[in-house]
Amino acid sequence: MKKLTAKQLREMWINFYKEKGHVLIDGASLVPENDPSVLFTTAGMHPLVPYLLGEKHPCGRRLVDIQKCIRTGDIEDVGDDYHCTFFEMMGNWSLGDYFKKEKIAWSYEFLTSPKYLDIPKEDLVVTVFAGDETAPRDEESYNAWRSCGLPESKIFFLPKKNNWWILASGVGPCGPDSEMFIDTKKPKCCPECSPACDCGKYIEIGNDVFMEYIKTSKDGPIKQNPQKNVDTGFGFDRLLYISNNLESVYDSELFMPIIKKIEEISNRYYLLNDETKRCMRIIADHIKASVFMISDGVVPLNVEQGYVLRRLLRRAINCANRLNFSGDRLVELVPVVVDIYKDFYPVLVKNMEMIEQVILQESEKFSKTLNQGIKEFEKVAMYCKDGVLNGKTAFRLYDTFGFPLELTRELAKEKNLTVDEQGYQEAYKKHQETSKANNDKVFKGGLADTGERTVRLHTAAHILQAGLRKIVSPDIYQKGCNITSERLRFDFNCDHKLSDDEKQRLEDYVNDVINQDLPVVCQEMDIDEAREEGALGIFDNKYGNKVKVYTIGNVSKEICGGPHAKHTGELKKFKILKEESSSAGIRRIKATIITE
Ligand code: ALA
Repeated sequence: MKKLTAKQLREMWINFYKEKGHVLIDGASLVPENDPSVLFTTAGMHPLVPYLLGEKHPCGRRLVDIQKCIRTGDIEDVGDDYHCTFFEMMGNWSLGDYFKKEKIAWSYEFLTSPKYLDIPKEDLVVTVFAGDETAPRDEESYNAWRSCGLPESKIFFLPKKNNWWILASGVGPCGPDSEMFIDTKKPKCCPECSPACDCGKYIEIGNDVFMEYIKTSKDGPIKQNPQKNVDTGFGFDRLLYISNNLESVYDSELFMPIIKKIEEISNRYYLLNDETKRCMRIIADHIKASVFMISDGVVPLNVEQGYVLRRLLRRAINCANRLNFSGDRLVELVPVVVDIYKDFYPVLVKNMEMIEQVILQESEKFSKTLNQGIKEFEKVAMYCKDGVLNGKTAFRLYDTFGFPLELTRELAKEKNLTVDEQGYQEAYKKHQETSKANNDKVFKGGLADTGERTVRLHTAAHILQAGLRKIVSPDIYQKGCNITSERLRFDFNCDHKLSDDEKQRLEDYVNDVINQDLPVVCQEMDIDEAREEGALGIFDNKYGNKVKVYTIGNVSKEICGGPHAKHTGELKKFKILKEESSSAGIRRIKATIITE
């Protein structure tokens, strides 16, 4: 297999698909826009859901990108050889254009051709969907692999559990997938050993999902998707370490400079022992994920995305303490992360100072919380029965004051107490199950549920932003938007609490635009043209792509993926439910429409 640098691998992926007629699109934010179903972008296809469901993409039907993703479902495993919370997915799409035969031939070419990855053909193993009562066996993919020259013995038919792809929300475009693995040549773990085992013999490197179905509700049936799509995802970080013949994803150039810096700060050798290695990996992963989250506008909070960020930062601080250095020094890792990624994500350079500030503030806050926790510990220690600190209390110290179990154990020991660790583990597990469910699914529905109300509320959000800029301040910009079928939630920069008069005028403004029944017009244009026309939106785009611009009379013009109402009159009546602080300098409006 060819040895590649990160830069070479990025370029190789992008150029391969460009040569096959694909247009390079910018990756989206880590915080999904207008999708309340999940907290973070978890896959490359996530921002493309509307287009997989039939909406026209301004860049055409063949797309390629590299999308940053966050997955926190396996956060406890971070620090082993493979798991990371932040990773990048190399993707390409056919939106109702080519299908299985072409796609599999290209995947094979990319993986095995000496011009590209040059993986020895005999090391490649693939899986295809075995079929069940809901969808047939994927003979077409099997035949496509056979036509590439792959022998029967290297193609495994596996059930839905392994070879079917849908977003974590359980709704949206979906279908059978074909996964590609490298056979490490380790001996089989059992006679049935297959890529379905996680014994380490087979390492997955990517998959082609054939999104020919749609699921509109979690427990409902699957229906044919009138548009047959391909959604491909290759793990960038994973391919990089495999291509460099490294032992772990943490040994690649995407991590090593961060780990080197941690060695320098802690004055310890990375490979000193397993505990040191694990702590350094956790710090490197969590700080990297935090840098990207903060750059995309997330701030530490006790809810939603902010909660995940807080958790990552606090875990990193705990690991720093375990390595005997204080959490505020983690800020020194920010420039190292920025340096690794700045060529592909230049916006990090612009946001670096802000990112450093957020991390520093959180570490100061956390050290105060830890001090409060020590006081709390002193109190609870006085009431311990039979020399045992009960597990629930130990867990509360962890959950509320961020106390890792080791710290509680140490403090307990000083007072001749022991910790009920089993009780702690039980409380921990219970909490983990609830938060896992919440991480995966914030609300029911999701993007696939582009119900009429959701679409209209989205249009209301555009009018609201126009109103805020007109009535409150022309410097106001959207800082976040989250829509369910019940309400919209709009975050914006503003230095004061809105007065009752301002709220009333805003509501009147939006209702006036609704009453004028203005058309909502969508145009496709170059990003530069959109900028010249004064459209609001994110201009960090590097590739001069085409974008969609939605215009509402002379009230609003925004770069946006849609979908939207056709006319403002459809919104009937707009009502502000609440205006509150969201974080420092950011206000939040919750509002709804009354269409009955
Ligand atoms: N959506 C597929 C994945 O995330 C490609 O693996």
